[in-house]
Amino acid sequence: MEEKILPRHIGIIMDGNGRWAKKRHLPRTAGHVQGARAFRKCLRYCADLGIECVTFYAFSTENWKRPQEEVDAIMKLFSDYLDEGLGMSEDDIRMKFIGDPSPLSEPLKAKMQDLTERSSANKGTICCIAVNYGGRDDIVRAVRCLVRSGASAEDITEESVSEQLDTAGLPDVDLLIRPSGEQRISNFLIWQAAYAEYVFMDVLWPDFKEKDLDLALEEYARRNRRFGGI
Ligand code: FPP
Repeated sequence: MEEKILPRHIGIIMDGNGRWAKKRHLPRTAGHVQGARAFRKCLRYCADLGIECVTFYAFSTENWKRPQEEVDAIMKLFSDYLDEGLGMSEDDIRMKFIGDPSPLSEPLKAKMQDLTERSSANKGTICCIAVNYGGRDDIVRAVRCLVRSGASAEDITEESVSEQLDTAGLPDVDLLIRPSGEQRISNFLIWQAAYAEYVFMDVLWPDFKEKDLDLALEEYARRNRRFGGI
């Protein structure tokens, strides 16, 4: 059998939950519930395929502009998932969270910390969840960190910035998937996905199935990555 070229790191923008709900005359929150199910399924499939790392965009620095009810519903779904994760000690997935946690509730932060620690020795897929994440914010926080530690202008290099980003230690994003028909990256991993292959798909996130990930992986394998060379 032909050996597949698999990405080491996949980034996924879980978009289209609202439209999925609207099409069914349901409240937007119902779309997020179904989106959280699609997330679980997709993560499981990535783990089965042996993908090294997958980062999901769950909540952006801009998503606070949504109605409070919707923000609360997304945070509740996220919190429920953390509870579930804390109960799955036999699972080999390593959990990581990126984004600025400061505005999140204390119980949520405690669960994130707990799950990160409890899963740190796991050897399977790294599941990275972006919450209150913004690519620009990530870069600003990284540079501030360097400046605070006394870095000179010459000390600010691509390597030193990368080491301060929330994703430090993870490989760069190879494949970035955005379902829902939108063709933009919405401030997601803008530094880390500088050389990623982008795959935009028409399916709405709650409908995203294993076969959709297969399609994106096939498209990725077909592309010829040159990293600026020839
Ligand atoms: C974007 O779709 C989706 C979000 C802002 C929230 C994503 C959150 C989840 C899938 C659930 C919680 C996360 C986890 C990890 C369990 P949209 O609402 O912008 O869709 P639209 O563009 O159709 O309105």
